[in-house]
Parts: sequence; C-alpha cells; structure tokens
Amino acid sequence: MCGIVGIVGTRPVAPLIVDALKRLEYRGYDSAGVATLENGALDRRRAEGKLVNLQERLEAEPLSGQIGIGHTRWATHGAPVEINAHPHFSSNVAVVHNGIIENFRELRGELQADGFVFSSQTDTEVIAHLVEKGLRDGLEPVEAAHAAIKRLRGAFALAVMFGADDNLIVAARNGPPLAVGHGEGEMYLGSDAVALAPFTNRITYLEDGDWAIVKRDSMQIFSLDGSAIERIQQRSVGSALMVDKGNHRHFMIKEIYEQPEVIGHTLAHYVDFNEQKVALRQESTVDFAKLDRLNITACGTAYLAGLVGKYWFERHARLPVDIDIASEFRYREMPMSADGMSLFISQSGETADTLAGLKYCEAQGQHLAAIVNVQESTIARSCKSVFPTLAGPEIGVASTKAFTCQLSVLAALAVAAGVQRGHIDSERERELVEQLSEAPRYTNDVLKLEGEIATMAHGLANKPNVIYLGRDTNFPLALEGALKLKELSYIHAEGYAAGELKHGPIALIDEEMPIVTIAPHDNIFEKTVSNMQEVAARGGKIILITDERGAEEAGMDDIKTIVMPKMPEIITPIVYALPIQMLAYHTAVQMGTDVDQPRNLAKSVTVE
Ligand code: F6R
Repeated sequence: MCGIVGIVGTRPVAPLIVDALKRLEYRGYDSAGVATLENGALDRRRAEGKLVNLQERLEAEPLSGQIGIGHTRWATHGAPVEINAHPHFSSNVAVVHNGIIENFRELRGELQADGFVFSSQTDTEVIAHLVEKGLRDGLEPVEAAHAAIKRLRGAFALAVMFGADDNLIVAARNGPPLAVGHGEGEMYLGSDAVALAPFTNRITYLEDGDWAIVKRDSMQIFSLDGSAIERIQQRSVGSALMVDKGNHRHFMIKEIYEQPEVIGHTLAHYVDFNEQKVALRQESTVDFAKLDRLNITACGTAYLAGLVGKYWFERHARLPVDIDIASEFRYREMPMSADGMSLFISQSGETADTLAGLKYCEAQGQHLAAIVNVQESTIARSCKSVFPTLAGPEIGVASTKAFTCQLSVLAALAVAAGVQRGHIDSERERELVEQLSEAPRYTNDVLKLEGEIATMAHGLANKPNVIYLGRDTNFPLALEGALKLKELSYIHAEGYAAGELKHGPIALIDEEMPIVTIAPHDNIFEKTVSNMQEVAARGGKIILITDERGAEEAGMDDIKTIVMPKMPEIITPIVYALPIQMLAYHTAVQMGTDVDQPRNLAKSVTVE
C-alpha cells in the first residue's frame, strides 16, 4: 500500500509533506520518511512506526529545502524498520514508491554486479540505483528516470528526485493511484487528492503506464514510449479539513455512531421516501431486467456486504448472483455471460485485487458497476455505473459505516432490480421502501445498547478463540463479526453458517469457547436455536444477539443475550452489524490494542 507525496515548492516543504502524509496514514503506518534537497545535497529523516515518530525526529533535526518527497509505509519487502523506510537513496537520487517491483531480484543482481551496494531489504531501492546507473552512464535525469521506469515490472506509483536539479520530480504510475496537484508556482504529487487538499483542488490523475515530469510551473505527462499525453485537469471535492474524533476516544466508535445519519443519506440517494419508490439516478441506471447474471467481486468486509447482497438479489429480484473474493476471482478465468453485469464493492476504490478483477471483466465486455465510497477513486472512474455510498471519510482501519452503507445500497438496488424484473409489484415496493426508511431509526436505537455490549465484551477479551454463527443473511454477518474481532483484538475468530457447525467445527467447542450467535426471530430462528443448543450441550458460552421474541423463545438459561428491537427482515443485516461492531470494539479496548490502526493492516490495500 503506502502513501507517497512530492512537492516542488517555493517555501520549506518538509512540514507540508508531513501534513500531506497525515492524510495518507490510512494507507500504512509501519514507518515514514521525508527527503528534501538543498544546495545540491539530498537529506532525509526516517522513523520506524507511526508518523508521530517522524514528526519528533523532524522537530529534533529539521530539514530545510523547497523540494521534497515523503512516504508512509505498509511493509511488503523487508521488515518495518528504519533502514527499510523510504525515501531510498542512491548517491544523487532519492525515491519513494508504493507497490511491488516484481522483477526486483533480477534487477538487484544486475546492479550488484555493477558494484551497487544495497542498504535495505526493499524492492524499492533497485529503482534508486537503476536511475543512478543511468546518470553514471551519462543520461540526463529525466532520461535516466524514464529508462529505469521502462525496466520495472509490477505495480508502482513512484516519485524520483535528483541531487542535480532542484526543480524536478519524475513521477510514474502503473497500478496504485497517483495524483498531480497544480498550485500557484508550486506542483504537488500525492497518492490521493485528499492528501493535496490543503494545497490545491486542481488535480490531474495519472493513468496506468503514464510517467510525468513535474516542475514548479509545469507538468508534462508521457507514455512509456516517450510520446506526450494529455490528461484532463479536474476540480477535486476532497476537503482540506482533517477529520477529527470529536468527543470520541477512537475514530472507529465515532464512525459507528455516525451510522444512523450516513445510512439515511445513502438510502435517500436511491429511494424516494415521499413517493415510496426506489429511484435510481440517471447516471447510475442499469437495466436489471436485461441481466441474466450478476457477478460481485470485492475483498474483506466489502466482500461480506456483497455476500448479503447475493441473498437479496436472488430473493427479491430472482437474479442469480456469483460472488467472489477478488484475489481468487482475478485468476479464476471465469466464463462470463454476455448479458451479465459485474459489480465491484469497495470503500477506498483502490483495492488492487478488486481493480484486477475489474480489468478482467472489462476485457470480457461486461457492464461494469461499482458501489464505492471514494468517488474520485480508480474503481469509481473505471465503471460505467457508479453507486456511491455516502459514508463520508472512513478513517478507522476497520470498516464500519462503509459496510452498513454498502448494505444500504445493495438493499435498494435489490429492490430496484426486483421492480424492474417484475418480481416486486408497487404495493410490495412501497412496503419494502418503508421498511428501508426505518433503518436509521433502528440503528440509532441500537447505539443505546453500547454500555451493555461493553460489559458482554468481558466474555470475549483475552479468550484464545471465538466462534460466530448465523444463517441466511446473518451468515455473512457472522463472518463479519469474526473478521472485526480478529483484526481489532487479535483474537482468533471464525464465522460459520450455523447449520455447518456439525460438519466439523463443533469439535472445537468446549467450556472455554465463546459463541456469538446472530439470530433475529425469523422463519429460520428455530433452526439456529437448535444449532445453538448443540453448542450449549458441549459447554460453549453463548452470546445471543436476537430480538425480544427470540430471547423468550430461545428458552435457554445460562446464556447472555443482546436484545435488539424487532425489525423488518430486509434491514436486519444493516442494524445487526452494529452490535457486532461494538462487541469487537469493546473487546479490543479492554485488551488495549490500537483500535484505529491495528497492527499489520492498512486502510487501502493497493498491492496484490
Ligand atoms: C476490514 C476491512 C477490509 C476491507 C478490504 C477492502 O474491516 O476494512 O477487509 O473491507 O480491505 O477494502 P475496500 O473496501 O477499500 O476495497
């Protein structure tokens, strides 16, 4: 992943670069670094761990210079230690890079044979030495950078700075995003437009295969063969304001509390509550009646939202759905229907595996659609139909409000598809729309259970393992509950379809095992309760998330129950997401882990 920044400026740039890196810290926080150039000399400060460590280093040893590059790292090649932190140097060249250079071993061998000495374990360092080699061979800086870029295979967004030129950064993109910002006598580079928002809202996005010469007062883009390319300059809507935590202890809990509002906004984008109809906007309309198959691709939590969507599209619109984890889909070589639509779900809109799946579907001639939170992202820009989630910036690394907004969009689209395909008549449409309109109110009610859920979290904190169970749309929620707990508290957790437990996993159950069961009182409640009883008979410690009737009818002593309001079936996955988020959050808080930036993770996963 990683975030990169570059500034060719007219004032000291190190503090500006750090400010931009703060906005990119969601992309990785294993280490960070800044390099600047002054009087022909490159200098850098790097620090292991989060950006605050780099800030402290810079306070103690400031960097001057009006041109510089910066980096916040999510480690791929080489441990997250200072020697592997970017920028990487080779004599007169400094480089920052996001991505993976797949042929770095071959290049390193070649450069070592030429006498270059490597001081890190990263793949990135080969870029610096390759450019330096070009300079030693007599090439001009731009030519040396271009020659080096042509030799790279893999995914990269990079910026190269030269000791010999204080008015030049060469940038290149192949895969991970890279934006150029146009200022007044200054130019900027960043992994996204939000990083550059304090400096400018005039942005040009580089496309795959582009490289650029960036100077104080000009920017030129070229293709790999060296021919000049025009890319449009756009006005970015990214806000310069840093989102803060308000009165909350963590971004995650703030974002959990934002859900009633953002779910309401998101639903209102797809549904006309006055007319009690689904109302897709012109720019996002899809003819669901013509589709014979829907293919959904996503990663992690976004994939689990898609899994709920599969139940909804099949149930309400009789539209068959294939759903894949993007990292599997991209190599599966799936034959695709000529009248199919491919739907990609992503908060960031930059997830490398999801993007690779998108490219495959594009090559198969599919209608491309996306449910996406970051509207200027590569995924949003690559799809014909874009269905925004109006969750606002999600800063906590573990996805919460983006997930429930993705569910809200999927629910509205499933109803729209049902109407268009003739499986939902106007009366049923009215009923479903009214039910959807209740989601914000129910999510708001459920927030009041936080104190009780925090107490229940004592039953999970420090346990070695936890199992989550659910059926139907609550099965993906069980998977999501387990994912949230794992990533936040580092407790091993698994989600199972409740009926699957007896086919193997039940062997894990003993008196030490907490089981979180998600089971609103519905037509399959009794089945889930039977599965829960099988667990209880073997000593498992049950936390049941259900409604009042479910709590009564479960008829089991010695279990803990989170009692939810009774609500319509179509909104249960949206509303039941909140107790599982709060349970994972409070377990992590009790265990003292870093809730907003859990170890080893990053918010935007732009590597394979
Ligand atoms: C988990 C989480 C991840 C993301 C996944 C996809 O809490 O946030 O599993 O859902 O990395 O990211 P996006 O949605 O940005 O494509």
